[in-house]
Amino acid sequence: MKKITVAIDGHSSCGKSTMAKKLAREAGYIYVDTGAMYRAVTLFAIQNGCFAADGSLDAARLESLMPGVSVSFRLDEETGKPLACLGGVVVEKEIRGMEVSNRVSPVAALPFVREAMTRQQQLMGKEKGIVMDGRDIGTAVFPNAELKIFVTASDEVRARRRYDELRAKGEEVEFEQILANVRERDYIDSHRAVAPLRQAPDALVLDNSNMTIEEQDAWLWKAFQKAVNTIQ
Ligand code: DC
Repeated sequence: MKKITVAIDGHSSCGKSTMAKKLAREAGYIYVDTGAMYRAVTLFAIQNGCFAADGSLDAARLESLMPGVSVSFRLDEETGKPLACLGGVVVEKEIRGMEVSNRVSPVAALPFVREAMTRQQQLMGKEKGIVMDGRDIGTAVFPNAELKIFVTASDEVRARRRYDELRAKGEEVEFEQILANVRERDYIDSHRAVAPLRQAPDALVLDNSNMTIEEQDAWLWKAFQKAVNTIQ
C-alpha cells in the first residue's frame, strides 16, 4: 500500500499531537511533533544565555550558536513513544514546562530557526509514511502533502485542557495565566512574518471544541482512509 504524508496543523493545545500520534501508530507511520523541536531550540536558548533578565531574546547570539544546536528524537524503549532530545539528552520534561512555553513563540518566529527546523523536517519526511504536526506543515514544510488537517477549538477549551494537563503533572499554575499564554501564542503564531499559522486552502478543518477523543479519532481515521484510497 502506498504511503502518504499527513500534515496536521492548528492552534496550540487543541489536541493535535494526541490525535496525530494515535493515527501514526494505527497506520504504522512515523510521528513527528515539530512543536517539540521549536521547544528544544528554546530550551537551548535559555540554557545558553540568549534571554536577558528582562525576558528579551538576543537573536544574534542564538544565531551564532545555532550550528551547535542538535535536536533529535529517540524512541522510549518501554512506551515506544518518541522523546525529544537536545544534544542527545532527553528533554521531554523541560520543554513542556511554563518557562519554555512562555518563550517559545519569539524563538519560533526567527527565520534562521525556522529554516533549520524546516530542512530537518523535510528530510525526516522524504520517504513519506509520516504524520507531522505543527503550525506550518501543510503550508511550508509539506505543501504537497496528500492529507492536510487544520485543527482548532475555542481558546477557553484549549486553556482548560492545558491547565488540566499541567496540574496533573503537579505544576502550580493558574487558569487565567494559561488562558493568557494560549491567546498570546495564537497571536504571535498567526502574525509572525515567516510561515505564520494559517489554514492551507486544501486542508480539512476539524473544530474539536465539542468532540470526544473517540469522535475525533474516528473522524481522522476516516479522512486518512479516504486520502490513502484516493492515491492507490
Ligand atoms: O505545538 P506546541 O505548542 O508544542 O508548539 C510550540 C511553539 O512552537 C508554538 O508557539 C508554535 C511553534 N511552532 C511553530 O512555529 N511551527 C511548528 N511547525 C510547530 C510549532
